[in-house]
Amino acid sequence: MCGVAKVKDWERFLSIKAASLLFCGAILSATLAITGAEAQEASDKGAYLTAAGGCYGCHTNIKEKGAPFAGGRPLETPFGTFYTPNITPDRDTGIGSWSDKDFLTAIKHGVSPLDQYFFPAFPYTSYTKMTDEDALAIKSHLMALTPVTQENRKHDISAPFSWRWLQWGWRLFFFTDGPYVPPSNASDAVARGGYLVEALTHCGECHTPRNFLGGTDNSLYLAGTANGGEGEKVPNITPDTETGIGDWSEGDIVSFMKDGMMPDFDNVQGSMEEVISHSTSKLTDEDLAAIAAYLKSIPPINNKIQ
Ligand code: HEC
Ligand code: HEC
Repeated sequence: MCGVAKVKDWERFLSIKAASLLFCGAILSATLAITGAEAQEASDKGAYLTAAGGCYGCHTNIKEKGAPFAGGRPLETPFGTFYTPNITPDRDTGIGSWSDKDFLTAIKHGVSPLDQYFFPAFPYTSYTKMTDEDALAIKSHLMALTPVTQENRKHDISAPFSWRWLQWGWRLFFFTDGPYVPPSNASDAVARGGYLVEALTHCGECHTPRNFLGGTDNSLYLAGTANGGEGEKVPNITPDTETGIGDWSEGDIVSFMKDGMMPDFDNVQGSMEEVISHSTSKLTDEDLAAIAAYLKSIPPINNKIQ
């Protein structure tokens, strides 16, 4: 009797165990499916933000068919030529060994893991306004890329501009550490657009004129410059009707950022073409509309670029 009972108990135990295992298995696989979906969502978000940030265009030597994100792209500036570094997860020549903290300190505060200052040719001056969450989503995306072994090329800039420690002084004048603060009374769309423009797509790095030390002149925020990077003329994109884009509708701005077509059917050229093909054309309609709403909301500045 006892033995039978024991066997029965045992059987019952086993069947409960089996049922609970099945149950646990079901929960586990559901949880795995959720974390799988979450991981997918996080990686899509990282890819989206990386596109918005325009990292690919600068960190890929597109002209010489270099590997994506492996660096080596020359950036001509009045101070000399910078060559972008490898930001693939290669442990020796890329950023494969970087911790989250290393990455946040670099991209948001312009300081390397070796405690050296970065040059502002790396627009950390804008990325400083990014949230940690968005910056780390970008890091996850980069860390999931195929590592590419490619040594960084030394910048070709002359002293004293090549002295990294001098950046200490530059930062004092021209760098304001984040975060992004939306204009007071901003609608949700304007606040989102401002975040995208100021923290991620860094429109001001080209559209705001710079002084002789390379600091942006914020009294002419987005008002254009006749001698932008690589000697380009960069137009005024404040809503001034005479010298800016005051007569563009929000729809005009959105379609321009999607396919580079201007309201007068002209096609965009130069570095803006790159910005559109690698960055703004990848943004959702909602985000593009937010950027347009923000551009319409900033003060118009009369600044003729000639
Ligand atoms: C306008 C061009 C430009 C854009 C856009 C840009 N970078 Fe860079 N980046 C640079 C340059 C130039 C440097 C090197 C700066 C230096 O040597 O002081 C750099 C350095 C870095 C470094 C340091 C790497 C190292 O080995 O020290 C990281 C990380 C980085 N960028 C990540 C990014 C990410 C992520 C994005 C997009 C959100 C991005 N960059 C967008 C130009 C750019
Ligand atoms: C890498 C530098 C760079 C960045 C970053 C950049 N632009 Fe431009 N942008 C230019 C240049 C150069 C032109 C002129 C293009 C031409 O002549 O065809 C231009 C043209 C434009 C125009 C056309 C204006 C006109 O009157 O013809 C608009 C609008 C514009 N940019 C908006 C933006 C916005 C919005 C952003 C941020 C999402 C941005 N740009 C980021 C360099 C840049």
